[in-house]
Amino acid sequence: MAVTNESSGSHELHEIQRAGQSISLYEAPTSLARALDLLGEYGHRARPVAGGTDLLVELDRGARPGVDVLVDLGRIPGLDEIVVDDQSIGLGPLVTHNQVVASEICRTEATPLAQACHEVGSPQLRNRATVAGNIVTASPANDTISALLALGASVELTSASGRRTLPLDQFFTGFRATALNPGELVTRIIVPRLGAHARGVFVKLGLRRAQAISVVHLAAVVEFDGDTVTDSRIAVGSVAPTVILVPEARAALVSRTLGAAEIEAAARAVVDASTPIDDLRAPARYRSDVVGTMARRALGALARGEELATWPDHPPLLWGSGFDGSYPNHGEASIDDGTPVTASVNGRTVTAAGAASSNLLDWLRDEAGLTGVKEGCAEGECGACTVHLDGAAVMACLVPAGRAQGAEVVTIEGLATDDVLHPIQEAFVDCAAVQCGFCTPGLVMASVKLLEEIPDPDRRQVTAALAGNLCRCTGYNAIHAAIQQAGESS
Ligand SMILES: Cc1cc2nc3c(=O)[nH]c(=O)nc-3n(C[C@H](O)[C@H](O)[C@H](O)COP(=O)(O)OP(=O)(O)OC[C@H]3O[C@@H](n4cnc5c(N)ncnc54)[C@H](O)[C@@H]3O)c2cc1C
Ligand code: FES
Ligand code: FES
Repeated sequence: MAVTNESSGSHELHEIQRAGQSISLYEAPTSLARALDLLGEYGHRARPVAGGTDLLVELDRGARPGVDVLVDLGRIPGLDEIVVDDQSIGLGPLVTHNQVVASEICRTEATPLAQACHEVGSPQLRNRATVAGNIVTASPANDTISALLALGASVELTSASGRRTLPLDQFFTGFRATALNPGELVTRIIVPRLGAHARGVFVKLGLRRAQAISVVHLAAVVEFDGDTVTDSRIAVGSVAPTVILVPEARAALVSRTLGAAEIEAAARAVVDASTPIDDLRAPARYRSDVVGTMARRALGALARGEELATWPDHPPLLWGSGFDGSYPNHGEASIDDGTPVTASVNGRTVTAAGAASSNLLDWLRDEAGLTGVKEGCAEGECGACTVHLDGAAVMACLVPAGRAQGAEVVTIEGLATDDVLHPIQEAFVDCAAVQCGFCTPGLVMASVKLLEEIPDPDRRQVTAALAGNLCRCTGYNAIHAAIQQAGESS
């Protein structure tokens, strides 16, 4: 729909209706050396892609002028591994938030990081979005940054001329700015293990419980010798141009027991170190007040040993039954807009061009003719575009279409067999869980993965699983009933 500019009388597209930046080449190399060569060859025209959940939105908004080449790291073997030794946990640059959530060692030995990853977006988003992408975007609102700073993490950077390691607090150089040189990649995030004498916690305040950028986030790690605090790091986000460590809070705690007076002094130090601004999420004054409360609650939880009290028993990942967090490798891909992409879609081989400048949602709808998958927002917020990619539920609007080369994709059209509806589709009909129906394909695709993973989910698990699926007709009770009915009958 065009809008009329009243002063000129001309018809103009609204900002969000304009086509985003066009990509002319999508490269998916199978070695780090080749990825570095490509970044060197294309210079400022190229950007690396991990999950694409930040980059695709930025490109859609025209926020990366001059970029027309994507170098997807997703086909380089080994980059999605979590490697553990006696001292640390190493995260490869393709490790997703959901891989961290699913990792027992991350939950117990890097607790604030696991909690921060669990707070990012929605399950579908967390199946693509990576921790490395989160730190490179370097927004002060990015959740894993406070967790990693509190844990004392460092970052390994690799370029064509070599490798270096930086403590994470030296990685951030300003608002959304990092110490990465052009053509340099994050190749590992090294997280010291908490060990037996340290405890950590992450807390976040958003405007709602899921799919919410932080109003404030805070992570605290405290080391003990018996009851005495021997060290502490508290990091706070969304209260300054970068996520900040608060050394004054450490001074208030070290060599003391973690009692009410010490917690109050540390909370005061956190408030004093914060220099928030007013923005659309919260006024500065509110942030200043609430950050103190969050510090008190976080340190109180650590004092009581209750840092994992709210961690769910089985957080839904939307991995279903056949996916373990690592995507299969489909070999090298190099795609311009004339190059056909071949994928298995709903069990059929589909070959279509138009992938270089497209996302998977548009490619499925416009090139493969599968219009069951819907576009509600085109920026990862609504879940209407949920499909299964190599076994995991993802938001198709945030996946570069070239990623489908060689992959297995299932859309809503692939669920029914021989005109017999899938049990979840049946249950949606039985429970009248459909009003206008626009959100329904996405809800069904998410529910299929939930029930494969947790056949008898309780209400909290259903709510958590559907956190990324918005229904503007708001008939959530019937949707819950349908999923529970399908679960009971399976
Ligand atoms: C709907 C929605 C909700 C969100 N909710 C949250 C939230 O609650 N909390 C939060 O913190 N974030 C949130 N985000 C932001 C985003 O999902 C995260 O920052 C995510 O972790 C980014 O990871 P990615 O792999 O998708 O990054 P990408 O988009 O692939 O990359 C991000 C940036 O890093 C660069 N890059 C990627 N990998 C490397 C590498 N190895 N070396 C060098 N550069 C690299 C890319 O070029 C790009 O500039 C949300 C985003 C959306 C769309
Ligand atoms: S989440 Fe993809 S269209 Fe809304
Ligand atoms: S049924 Fe209308 S948007 Fe959900």
